[in-house]
Amino acid sequence: MKTNQFNNKICLVTGASSGIGKALSLKLNSMGAMVILTARNAENLELVKADCTHPDKIRILPFDMEDINTIESFARNAWNLFQNIDFVFLNAGMAIRDMVHLTNLKMVYKVMNINFFSPVALSRALLPYMREKKQGCFVVTSSLCGKFGVPKLSAYSASKHALHGFFESFRAEYESDGIRVTMITAGLVKTEITVHALKGNGTINGKMQESVAGGISPEACAREIVRAVDAGKYDALVGGIEKYSVLVKRFFPGLLRMVIARHPMKKLRDAGLLRIPPYSDTDSANLHRANIQAVADFVPAGR
Ligand SMILES: NC(=O)c1ccc[n+]([C@@H]2O[C@H](COP(=O)([O-])OP(=O)(O)OC[C@H]3O[C@@H](n4cnc5c(N)ncnc54)[C@H](OP(=O)(O)O)[C@@H]3O)[C@@H](O)[C@H]2O)c1
Repeated sequence: MKTNQFNNKICLVTGASSGIGKALSLKLNSMGAMVILTARNAENLELVKADCTHPDKIRILPFDMEDINTIESFARNAWNLFQNIDFVFLNAGMAIRDMVHLTNLKMVYKVMNINFFSPVALSRALLPYMREKKQGCFVVTSSLCGKFGVPKLSAYSASKHALHGFFESFRAEYESDGIRVTMITAGLVKTEITVHALKGNGTINGKMQESVAGGISPEACAREIVRAVDAGKYDALVGGIEKYSVLVKRFFPGLLRMVIARHPMKKLRDAGLLRIPPYSDTDSANLHRANIQAVADFVPAGR
């Protein structure tokens, strides 16, 4: 039987209480990993532990990633649980959904703290331990919004763009010390991220965006992330058809600008240009083929 590189390895997963982080934790633990679960909601972390294949290999360490000043002691406590951490999944994140002029500056700081400064602080805090062991891997959950900005997600896009810059430099500096970085650029994943999102004035968004509801399952996303890390990838695009927008940006930047400005997902789908049925793994291959054809038909000849 093929062994996997996560068996008996120590994984720290931030944002493990729901969505992608929860699915990742369950997947890693099912592969034999010891998983340190962290997020703010301790009760939800206990529920994740109860769902795990090997709950005896789970440790729970609640922490608020906005508390940047105490991240060093959090990192030390996490390391001391097993005197080691092999993989750090920097996954915790939140979004502010609003127009720039309606977004309070405090909300911009908040999203930058949770999505950008906390992964920076956590990776810096763990770096000395990993350099001493000459091994370690950071897996960073970014987004298509880390590749281009979209309306109503300016601060979120900024935080995800910043992750690419920071962790590409980080990788270049410490790869020779045995420290790896895998950047995950995720497309739409059906989680509660838009329900948990805040509006520009700090009130809860409270509803699931249709586009996110049509995304791949968190379990499918977790599988793809684990596969990318297992394969030692530097970068991985994860998601449905929308992930190819990164290629559209590279080769047809004007087209992407037009689509972003004038064709939000709903309009595209209503026009029959993006088929997003309720997602299941079994029909994913057919769905991808249909969507690739739809986008190919949409790109005007000669552009
Ligand atoms: N869903 C998508 O379509 C999508 C696409 C691209 C990228 N992503 C990225 O994927 C990651 C996971 O998001 P998700 O979709 O799984 O959303 P989610 O279900 O809302 O999960 C977000 C996780 O982050 C944790 N979190 C939020 N604020 C925190 C804080 N201050 N301190 C500690 N933990 C905090 C939450 O736990 P607590 O509330 O318990 O603290 C939760 O476990 C995020 O980085 C997101 O940007 C998502």
